[in-house]
Amino acid sequence: MLPLSLRLVAVSAVLVFFWGPPVVHARCRNQPGDPGYPSAADWSALNDTINGRLLNVVPSAKACSELGCTEAQWESGFFRQTIPGAMNAYNWEQDYGPPAELCLRNGSSCAQGDVSLYAVNATSVAHIQAGIIFAQAHNLRVVIKSSGHDYLGRSTTKNSLLLWTAYFKNTTFTEHFSIAGSDHGPAVTVGSGVGLKTIYDAAKAQGKMFVGGTAATVSPAGGYIQGAGHSAFSPLYGLAADNVLQFSVVLANGSFVTVNSVSHPDLFWAMRGGGSGSWGVIIDATVPTLPIFNVTLHTVNLLTATLDQTCSLMNTHAMHVNDWNEVRAGQYFYLTGSTSNSTLAVSTLFKDLDGDASKAQMSSFLADAAALGVVVQGESTLTTFANDIVGFQDDASGYNVILSSRLVPGTVYSDAPSSVGPAYKQLLSQGIQSILGHIVAGGQVAANAHIDSAVNPAWRTAKTHVVATQRWDSSLSASDVQALRSNFTAIVRPVLAGLAGGESSGSYLNEGDVLEPDFRVTFFGPKYPRLEKIKAAYDPDDLFIVPVGVRSEFWDSEGMCTIERTIS
Ligand SMILES: Cc1cc2nc3c(=O)[nH]c(=O)nc-3n(C[C@H](O)[C@H](O)[C@H](O)COP(=O)(O)OP(=O)(O)OC[C@H]3O[C@@H](n4cnc5c(N)ncnc54)[C@H](O)[C@@H]3O)c2cc1C
Ligand SMILES: *[C@@H]1O[C@H](CO)[C@@H](O)[C@H](O)[C@H]1NC(C)=O
Ligand SMILES: *[C@@H]1O[C@H](CO)[C@@H](O)[C@H](O)[C@H]1NC(C)=O
Ligand SMILES: *[C@@H]1O[C@H](CO)[C@@H](O)[C@H](O)[C@H]1NC(C)=O
Ligand SMILES: *[C@@H]1O[C@H](CO)[C@@H](O)[C@H](O)[C@H]1NC(C)=O
Ligand SMILES: *[C@@H]1O[C@H](CO)[C@@H](O)[C@H](O)[C@H]1NC(C)=O
Ligand SMILES: *[C@@H]1O[C@H](CO)[C@@H](O)[C@H](O)[C@H]1NC(C)=O
Ligand SMILES: *[C@@H]1O[C@H](CO)[C@@H](O)[C@H](O)[C@H]1NC(C)=O
Ligand SMILES: *[C@@H]1O[C@H](CO)[C@@H](O)[C@H](O)[C@H]1NC(C)=O
Repeated sequence: MLPLSLRLVAVSAVLVFFWGPPVVHARCRNQPGDPGYPSAADWSALNDTINGRLLNVVPSAKACSELGCTEAQWESGFFRQTIPGAMNAYNWEQDYGPPAELCLRNGSSCAQGDVSLYAVNATSVAHIQAGIIFAQAHNLRVVIKSSGHDYLGRSTTKNSLLLWTAYFKNTTFTEHFSIAGSDHGPAVTVGSGVGLKTIYDAAKAQGKMFVGGTAATVSPAGGYIQGAGHSAFSPLYGLAADNVLQFSVVLANGSFVTVNSVSHPDLFWAMRGGGSGSWGVIIDATVPTLPIFNVTLHTVNLLTATLDQTCSLMNTHAMHVNDWNEVRAGQYFYLTGSTSNSTLAVSTLFKDLDGDASKAQMSSFLADAAALGVVVQGESTLTTFANDIVGFQDDASGYNVILSSRLVPGTVYSDAPSSVGPAYKQLLSQGIQSILGHIVAGGQVAANAHIDSAVNPAWRTAKTHVVATQRWDSSLSASDVQALRSNFTAIVRPVLAGLAGGESSGSYLNEGDVLEPDFRVTFFGPKYPRLEKIKAAYDPDDLFIVPVGVRSEFWDSEGMCTIERTIS
């Protein structure tokens, strides 16, 4: 028998002959004011089923004025996480319109903007199930949030019900994690509300480490692993998605399932790189632990005086990125500057090397940089537990930022390193003031190319992940923010794509631009068609839709209504 969709097409093909191309009509989620939107009594009934854990949600600026937050609290990732409506980059809370609906820090008025209306402050599987069943019954827009760190605004949306997982805080270590009777060794199961710093500290107390990012409050079992998850230790141990052993998930139909290599293996394939917020609500994830190890963090600043010198410095850096292959170092190389002077801050992490050995690893690059007339300043090393180096005390939050990025192939560095400096020069010339490079690929990330998962294959041939960032002050008008955003995409995307090999080049989904025009190619590459099939099987009604996520092309930018389209 033909699947339903094919039968529709077959029927339509006959109809076309008489009435023109068939149209799939738009359908919308219910919003306040719609006849199908839940009444106060309906919301109250939901609240009763979840032990009174239903919250009204307001933008962070409003919550902060009610709570009397200090500036330090406003800027703290840990503090902001306690506010259900707060995003790390609070521009995602705003609707820049037109018409604009803003709630700014110290603003004179406050509108709800793109912040959810209600949240389930969940601490149990049953709370999430109740939220999902209610949303399905009333045809509501749903979003999922853990830390609110998303750089693409995927954890908040207008008129939605938020499934808030920040209080899934369980952390359990084992020496023998078993899947279907086979022992996968030492592992830790972390709730989807547990941040990196908390896990690194708990792991240290157990004499353990695991493959995670460099931050304090990012949730590995939230968006990080689903997007791929890079680490300073990825050249040694692969991506987070290469390592994860299991997820526990509440699906769109309300079932609570275990997802691993033998239970729902198709979903396990999709959740390793296929993008966050699209598959179900993660309750926890299990990742392998490693014996704790020491790392030397080598830091140095390189100061240039002119744009041409900056260009030469970036070429020199590009010629040296393979210097550290042997020891599989990770590196963050952060350029800030202008068309005059710039600073390149380089932080390199060397496992099991002491300070002197780390300096020796860097000396050839630094000598070549100095030979350009670049000022080499503040070289220093710190050797200690890996956990303490990548686990930050807190994350700066509460500002406006957007990103655009590309995974730059290793062949660029081996064959054409002198194409790197001119790309940086072009970005600086066009007003981009901050570009963060990462050596978090190559090594084991490349060696893991055989792992069958949804990770964008661009990761397997990449050497670096390069991110241009744009920040702005909240005094900018809403229409200027819109112009700035479209200008940013228009300026940065062609330069980074040119550097990375053109239109089919890949970008890291968790640190990219939500306005990428060809998001399926850019973020998923050849994995997209299979992801759509798996999505249709597990979430046929598209309950879980996020911008640039799987099947989002069938929805408007807010995920509120499907797009009316003709079947061609
Ligand atoms: C300071 C900082 C440092 C970072 N460092 C790194 C790094 O070193 N390496 C790296 O790879 N990335 C890094 N990132 C990017 C990070 O991977 C993404 O921001 C990621 O989306 C954060 O996931 P979250 O769950 O913490 O955030 P959230 O904003 O809560 O969620 C992000 C996405 O995940 C979904 N989601 C959240 N919780 C769940 C859940 N329980 N079930 C299902 N879906 C869920 C949301 O719907 C949304 O789509 C960093 C980000 C920041 C802000
Ligand atoms: C849910 O119930 C609790 C406890 O009765 C109450 O404090 C809270 O305000 C209710 N939530 C909403 C959104 O009404
Ligand atoms: C907002 O108000 C706080 C408290 O009054 C003040 O400290 C801060 O500087 C103000 N911030 C901005 C961006 O105006
Ligand atoms: C959410 O629930 C947690 C755990 O019970 C609680 O500590 C926290 O205060 C709640 N948050 C809000 C905003 O009610
Ligand atoms: C967290 O752990 C406690 C104690 O073991 C358990 O009762 C609870 O169900 C766990 N919560 C979740 C969401 O797994
Ligand atoms: C929900 O979907 C999963 C995966 O397709 C399936 O195994 C499960 O039986 C479904 N649950 C219900 C209640 O239909
Ligand atoms: C550029 O030079 C000025 C003046 O010396 C200095 O204050 C500034 O920090 C420099 N900027 C960068 C990005 O290095
Ligand atoms: C690792 O670092 C810790 C903390 O600085 C130190 O106590 C320990 O001796 C180091 N171990 C090795 C093998 O260098
Ligand atoms: C956006 O680009 C246009 C055209 O180059 C320019 O006129 C405008 O000033 C820019 N706006 C912002 C906010 O950057």
